[in-house]
Amino acid sequence: MPDDLWDILIIGAGAAGLATAIFAARAARDTNRRTSILLLEGAPRVGAKILVSGGGRCNVTHDRIDASDYYASPNIVKRVLRSFDENDAVDWMYEMGVELKTEATGKLFPVTDRAATVRDALLNECDKLGVALRVEQRVDTIEKSEPHFDVRGAGETFRSRRVVLATGGRSLPRTGSDGHGYELAKQLGHSVTPTTPALAPLRLDAGFFHKPLSGVTHDAQLRIFIAGKLAGRRTGSVLWTHFGLSGPVAMDLSRLWTQAHHAGQPLRVEMSLAPDASFEQVEQQFMQAAQRRPKASLASVVSDALSQVGGGNIPGAIPAAVVEHVMRASQLSEAPPASQLSREVRRSLVHALTALVLPVTGDRGWNYAEATAGGVPLGEVDVRTMASRRCAGLYLVGEILDCDGRIGGYNFQWAWATGSLAGRGVVADWPAAG
Ligand code: FDA
Repeated sequence: MPDDLWDILIIGAGAAGLATAIFAARAARDTNRRTSILLLEGAPRVGAKILVSGGGRCNVTHDRIDASDYYASPNIVKRVLRSFDENDAVDWMYEMGVELKTEATGKLFPVTDRAATVRDALLNECDKLGVALRVEQRVDTIEKSEPHFDVRGAGETFRSRRVVLATGGRSLPRTGSDGHGYELAKQLGHSVTPTTPALAPLRLDAGFFHKPLSGVTHDAQLRIFIAGKLAGRRTGSVLWTHFGLSGPVAMDLSRLWTQAHHAGQPLRVEMSLAPDASFEQVEQQFMQAAQRRPKASLASVVSDALSQVGGGNIPGAIPAAVVEHVMRASQLSEAPPASQLSREVRRSLVHALTALVLPVTGDRGWNYAEATAGGVPLGEVDVRTMASRRCAGLYLVGEILDCDGRIGGYNFQWAWATGSLAGRGVVADWPAAG
């Protein structure tokens, strides 16, 4: 049996676990409660995912965050975000000595452009507030032995009055988030909805034309249809790669694909090179361009037409190589001048430009996914405090929950917000602690 009885034991020292520890310690300090807090981290390095985030710069939050930026019940997400919004995140970071800057995309990064600035500030704050931290302490089991929890792993048992599960999801398992947290949640009575990669690049059929375009980036619109119905649409940057398609737009939509694929639903992914323009608008621009330059090659007329549509919303031309591959996919490589195309061929070309079907064969998997779709249902926690509705004394925060955000700082905001609610909640609930 363990000698020590901890007041609060947090499993996982990632973004959500560190935030929970800080808010709990501050709440205890501000209400003059002597509260012992222990963070157990399975990996040798704390906050490994923070360090690799945002290309090593850590996209801490976004300048405008809304419930619609997340895949989860909007009402529940709204309540969580209202308690700790993007401005609170900026102020909180500032209090810990991290100044943020907003980039043109709306993403906020530390002015140092170093993710370590954020990770170190969180660790320093924990240290200042007297939070105990043990690394290489992977938790295998949790048992509720009323009124306490016995938390076991790495040959040791820790006893605590309260437990916070901040074990993350399954994305990038080498950082320590290997999905074992879901087993721990199940041991304490929770259910877990199917988990699939989110914010992951998409693989395309090996016979498609993506390989020679590897490294080419441009703006486009991707649309995903599940069982014939439009399920999502995103406009912005895509990046062609040797395996398929990446970039923010593909990654943003990937979770719709992975979840529907897991459920065995029929899927179709389309790309438009003329985002926000209709088939008719593109066709009209094409005919006008062909009239203006009757001798020009088909590819250059297509490029001309694409640059005219979109009302200037999408900056940057579509690279000629992409246009040529789309034309080739429509059997138009040896094409006559644009002005000589039959109506039927013209319409099939415009169709390829505005609704090219991408043969998605899968996602790139957990090693490349930035988040997890699925997890512990939000309905199983009280979002005022992130307390479990299934197990008294347990709290759940961050990516372990069934809520994932878009690319752009939304997932860290979820980790900070749920951590702030749980940290304050676990201390406010204290009279019932026994
Ligand atoms: P997280 O996974 O961060 O932490 C969980 C911790 O629990 C880990 O340290 C793990 O080792 C530990 N753990 C797990 N099981 C355990 C056990 N059994 N015992 C003990 N410890 C255990 N988001 C964003 O908003 N902006 C960005 O710039 C990026 N960039 C980005 C890049 C990459 C490459 C990835 C993979 C992800 C991002 N994200 C992101 C997403 C973001 O990193 C993610 O949503 C949060 O880190 C989730 O925070 P959590 O604390 O919930 O889990």
